[in-house]
Amino acid sequence: MPDQAASLRLLAQEKAVGKQELPRPETDNYGPTVVAVTSGKGGVGKTSLVVNMGLILAQRNQRTVIVDADLGLANVEVLLGIVPPYSVHDLLFGHKTIEDILAKGPFNLKIIAGGSGFQELANLEQSQRERLIGALSFFQDKSDFILIDTGAGISRNVLGFVAAAEEVVVIVTPEPTSLTDAYSLIKVLAKFEIHERVFLVVNQAVNEQEAFLTAEKITFVANKFLQNIKINYLGFIGKESIVSEAVKNQNPFVLMYPFSQATKSVAQITTNFITLLGKDDHNLVLSKRGGMKGFIQKLVKLFR
Ligand SMILES: Nc1ncnc2c1ncn2[C@@H]1O[C@H](COP(=O)(O)OP(=O)(O)OP(=O)(O)O)[C@@H](O)[C@H]1O
Ligand SMILES: [Mg+2]
Repeated sequence: MPDQAASLRLLAQEKAVGKQELPRPETDNYGPTVVAVTSGKGGVGKTSLVVNMGLILAQRNQRTVIVDADLGLANVEVLLGIVPPYSVHDLLFGHKTIEDILAKGPFNLKIIAGGSGFQELANLEQSQRERLIGALSFFQDKSDFILIDTGAGISRNVLGFVAAAEEVVVIVTPEPTSLTDAYSLIKVLAKFEIHERVFLVVNQAVNEQEAFLTAEKITFVANKFLQNIKINYLGFIGKESIVSEAVKNQNPFVLMYPFSQATKSVAQITTNFITLLGKDDHNLVLSKRGGMKGFIQKLVKLFR
């Protein structure tokens, strides 16, 4: 772990820069907001949130790309019922271009499957690293949001994506094990100064009060015991049968049930997120960590 700790610290030391107004200068610091969606415990609703939030963003004309970086199953594709023809693995080893591996969803939502590509990061040659950075930098001026569906927990793999991303959304359910695992994750982010703030979403709550109490528990303990990390509660999604039904039907609930409470909840979470990020109508926000280019450069550096 010392290696990982050192490189995580190195990344975290890069100083944040403030927001600037129009006009948009020619600089790599302008780019999409790269968001890692993660959790302490598995199976809490990361993929469901990424897919449905991605659709809400796309519906609002935010140019959105979902990156499936979960090294497990191809979850994003399953939930959307869309199978990208190729993955990052084919980009690295199969002479495919970024356009070849890109799948298109509703409202022009874009999906990139990691496949086993991200798993290979540690074994890449310099030319392949450059190819990956070049290929994913394609999105630097062509997207507003990159949502990364990561695995759960505090493995090196997951933390790499979380550390390289500009913002992190942590999902938690009211279950005690989910709460303690989320806290452990946030503790690592604070201890290694990986992020100064995390956004929290409570999923599968029976009602608003349970969600609020869940968020409050984590926030209270974090404020008490962790320095340099702020938790922003974005909202909650209730435990609803339509959510699992949508998963079974491979049709996201925001499309299947656009007027449901679950859809309203994700829309509210998305609004709160955009507001807290301070994004304006033109999406002209100076990316603190260099947009997609900064993200992929850091990711590659972390896994070298
Ligand atoms: N709000 C909800 N109400 C009811 N069921 C839900 C809700 N959110 C998620 N689920 C159920 O939990 C399952 C897991 O959700 P999802 O695949 O999004 O979790 P995950 O965190 O991505 O899991 P993994 O860690 O395995 O990637 C879904 O198949 C769905 O049935
Ligand atoms: Mg998942």
